[in-house]
Amino acid sequence: MPNPNTTQHQCSLCKKVITVHSQYDMPIFDPNTGFSICKNCIKQINRILEEHDAANASEEKKDFAIQLDDILSKNKPHIIKEYLDEYIINQDRAKKILAVAVYNHYKRMKYGAEHEGNTDIEKSNVIMLGPSGCGKTALLSHLSKLLDVPFAVTDTSSLTEAGFVGADVEVAVRNLYYAADKDIAKAEHGIIYLDEFDKIARKSGANNSITADPGHEGVQQALLKMLEGSVVEFTARGQRKHPEAPTIKVDTKNVLFIVGGAFVGIDKEISKRLKKADANIGFGAEVQGEDEKPKYDELIHKVRPEDLMEYGIIPEIIGRLPIICTLETLDEDALLRILTEPKNAPVKQYEKLLSMDNVKLEFQEDALRAVAKKAIERKTGARSLKGIIEDTMLDVMFDIPKSNEPRKIIITKECIEDGAKPTIEPMED
Ligand SMILES: Nc1ncnc2c1ncn2[C@@H]1O[C@H](COP(=O)(O)OP(=O)(O)O)[C@@H](O)[C@H]1O
Ligand SMILES: [Mg+2]
Repeated sequence: MPNPNTTQHQCSLCKKVITVHSQYDMPIFDPNTGFSICKNCIKQINRILEEHDAANASEEKKDFAIQLDDILSKNKPHIIKEYLDEYIINQDRAKKILAVAVYNHYKRMKYGAEHEGNTDIEKSNVIMLGPSGCGKTALLSHLSKLLDVPFAVTDTSSLTEAGFVGADVEVAVRNLYYAADKDIAKAEHGIIYLDEFDKIARKSGANNSITADPGHEGVQQALLKMLEGSVVEFTARGQRKHPEAPTIKVDTKNVLFIVGGAFVGIDKEISKRLKKADANIGFGAEVQGEDEKPKYDELIHKVRPEDLMEYGIIPEIIGRLPIICTLETLDEDALLRILTEPKNAPVKQYEKLLSMDNVKLEFQEDALRAVAKKAIERKTGARSLKGIIEDTMLDVMFDIPKSNEPRKIIITKECIEDGAKPTIEPMED
């Protein structure tokens, strides 16, 4: 007996007559024209479309591999280093290490693209140590401009364990996601720089677990998961975190991590270890008198994973940072070069600014040396250079625009040391 609720319709595409029990048997049906498409036809169309999309996706993957060839040829280590040389003085070893790390990161991407996500080539995350103002942050920020993958800097000292006041460690990945213009796939091949990484060391060091510092330990545990490669979940910027908030997920398996910090006091750990080793092989402590303590620079280059552990970084994290890179303290000559040589050198910037007022600016060599000497006294590396010059240049930049006369301004040593007025000479244009 025919069901009173069923009707018969002919599919306009396959021309089959279909018994329609519900609208799902004939999902497209126009009562006015009788035009209809049956369930089977729709399924088939869907399959064809899906196959087409899949084929395109593998096309896209191939395109990506070709793009990577291009990226690799443009980013050979020596090319990256040459670029960094334009902005950063000295620190050659750090430049080489970073250049190779980035190049290998691209190679690893290419390998993954050609071997279906295979990650046989291991990641080589980098840890950078060096005194304040030696160029760690500057190196990475210049490197980031050259990169063909998203890059995000996060200040580790601002991170806290979930539940504490402050930013959770997921923020590092969220920054990368935004650096990738919200493209998750791109973010998953990006680079994260964790600046001020030493600030999350357990204050008590490795041995003192009684007074351990639970907040920092928690941050380290959370960062460890990220370093090991995990799916990190976070909410969009500006969205308050609550259980129903939609989240974005980024896998950090292929993200390259670079961490950096001054690690103030790690030289003591290194020196302790070296003394112990000396004592063990029979050299007495008398070999090294108190007054001839090895300097920070000599020591820092001998840093080993166990020193970082003593400093208060958990061993699991150190294990995930196989490349240790140390930067040198900048001496007077290096500071002098920083003032004049980089593309964005302070002296070049002032020259450009004042040339717009018809003024030729001249820094005498001993004036620049005086700036460098002052910076060394302040013990903040190149960081204070700009401030020291700025003190002198403020009056110049205030007074000069009062007239349009072409002039020449000479900054002497006395200007820097005693705040003397710069020499001003008329100039024929
Ligand atoms: N080796 C260097 N070459 C050129 N400029 C430098 C160098 N080191 C530091 N600077 C300059 O000094 C300032 C502070 O350096 P920064 O990279 O922030 O130091 P830190 O090592 O503490 O991160 C920046 O403006 C940077 O341009
Ligand atoms: Mg820094």
